[in-house]
Amino acid sequence: MPPRSRFQLAVIGDPVSHSLSPEMQNAALKKLKLPLRYGAIRVRPQELKSFVKGLGRRLMGFNVTIPHKVAIVPLLDRIAFEAKLIGAVNTVLSRNGFLVGFNTDGAGYLMSLLNDAKFQPRGKQVTLLGAGGAARAIGTALGLNQVRSLTIANRTQENAARLTKDLIRNLPKISIHSCGLTGKAFASALKNSHLLINTTSIGLHATAFPDFPWKSLKKGALVSDIVYHPRMTPFLKAAKKYSHPIHSGEGMLVHQGALALEIWTGMKPDTRLMRRVLLKNL
Ligand code: ATR
Repeated sequence: MPPRSRFQLAVIGDPVSHSLSPEMQNAALKKLKLPLRYGAIRVRPQELKSFVKGLGRRLMGFNVTIPHKVAIVPLLDRIAFEAKLIGAVNTVLSRNGFLVGFNTDGAGYLMSLLNDAKFQPRGKQVTLLGAGGAARAIGTALGLNQVRSLTIANRTQENAARLTKDLIRNLPKISIHSCGLTGKAFASALKNSHLLINTTSIGLHATAFPDFPWKSLKKGALVSDIVYHPRMTPFLKAAKKYSHPIHSGEGMLVHQGALALEIWTGMKPDTRLMRRVLLKNL
């Protein structure tokens, strides 16, 4: 691990060398004229406990990425409300060695929806493809922002059912259902959806959803993908072909980072600059 003096903020993960956060955050910190540096620290799973006890408490704060987002929760001193509901932490603030865990993934996604796609989720019907960690964060944030209904559609239906049960427990006022990626229930959810979000890893390696029932999706529905490399995923390309407005994934990364920086410094960074740096480094 690097000596403390090299930076005050960091992202921890394993692997972490590919992370785009240092470039993006350092540009934002420089623009704010803050004398702070953001680094990347590889922390292996077996080192997480000692990192949290040691260097983690001496930093000003840090981001947490794969594979530590869930494992770090019981190691922290306090967990903020939304992170507790999501059950995962992506941002830690250290105040005099007291560590508070936040989750800015879901809120960052919503900020991007509002700012980049001008989409206001309140009262809307949404279909989420996928039932992993990203779906959990985004589903929770959408529920907290009072969408009318949420359908979790996933290849493995048991995983969709499990996430749905957890979301219903935390968000009892929202109508939440689950289904597979084919069949009547899926088609009917698509027909009523104002927003369709892909949170699965499909698209990461330029793979597409085979036989996606595009004709079932509500006319004019916004189609969003959290995969940001390539920026124009096969899923978004297909949505465009069917004349849907689209929302690409880099906005979530920009805004989760901007919210984290605000938690650490109390200052609002230049998100346009952060996006430019991110896209340049993709
Ligand atoms: P993350 O934490 O980034 O959300 P994850 O927890 O690994 O990632 O979740 C990956 C999601 O992508 C899951 O919903 C997975 O579906 P299963 O629950 O059926 O595994 C989905 N996924 C991955 N590859 C897929 C594929 N080829 N077709 C359909 N869904 C896929």
